[in-house]
Amino acid sequence: MTSDTVAPAAAASGASATERFFADKASSAAATPTERVDLLAREVLDAVHATIRRHKVTYEEYNALKAWLIGVGQDGEWPLFLDVWVEHVVEQVATESREGSKGSIEGPYYVPGAPEPSAGTTLPMREAEKGTPLLFQGQVRSVSGEPLAGARVEIWHADDDGYYSQFAPGIPEWNLRGSVIADEAGRFRIHTVQPAPYQIPTDGSCGKLIAAAGWHAWRPAHLHMKVSAPGHHLVTTQLYFTGDEHVFDDIASAVKPELILDPRPTGDGAGREVTYDFVLDPA
Ligand code: DHB
Ligand code: FE
Repeated sequence: MTSDTVAPAAAASGASATERFFADKASSAAATPTERVDLLAREVLDAVHATIRRHKVTYEEYNALKAWLIGVGQDGEWPLFLDVWVEHVVEQVATESREGSKGSIEGPYYVPGAPEPSAGTTLPMREAEKGTPLLFQGQVRSVSGEPLAGARVEIWHADDDGYYSQFAPGIPEWNLRGSVIADEAGRFRIHTVQPAPYQIPTDGSCGKLIAAAGWHAWRPAHLHMKVSAPGHHLVTTQLYFTGDEHVFDDIASAVKPELILDPRPTGDGAGREVTYDFVLDPA
């Protein structure tokens, strides 16, 4: 069996997401002051206790929860769980005083250090990459309207099957990931393919919760982006597509109306194109 025929599984993408998190982010968690941990831990536990009292949670339900929580860790699915059901509120709080472009959750699948595409600004992709070609272009400006020359637009997204490189098997390392430098006028042009809607893994513990609660596992198709320029706040965001079945019904609650694109067919009819400008707040 070649790696191309291995079906992506929760345990594999969960383990990669956990490893990635420890490599890039876990160190910033060590600095939380005692008073803050005391306050937040107590309030979260108080909310859990209140829920148990209000709904008269039984020992059977308590043990089901315990088994499930242990399973989330064993499947490496804590990054998935937190980014789907918690991160969107952290993102709202973190960016509520910004005037520039709206942000959205980062999710578990960002990898720093993506290549700067060499063939113009076509993202790295397989020779016969499936999916509708998409030209994504725009300009990066400051809130006062000045173009931000040399701004960096990092982009990563799922393929036409809804899978991310480095987290699902059999996909080249940097497939559909790139770091594009805007020109002197802050403009960028990125050639890629339209991503497919993404289903969070259904064969692990997050999938069990979804099935047990009668929810669905879908996120609308989306492009992930990190846009940055010296002296400005980095914007981490996602862009969605009008008409997507799940655009108003995202399992991760990460869609904002300002983030929905409406691409039009390209002149040659072969693909679609869309313009979206980013506005960065001063740091
Ligand atoms: C998850 C996956 C995503 O692609 C995303 O953008 C957010 C969350 C997840 O599986 O947790
Ligand atoms: Fe995603």
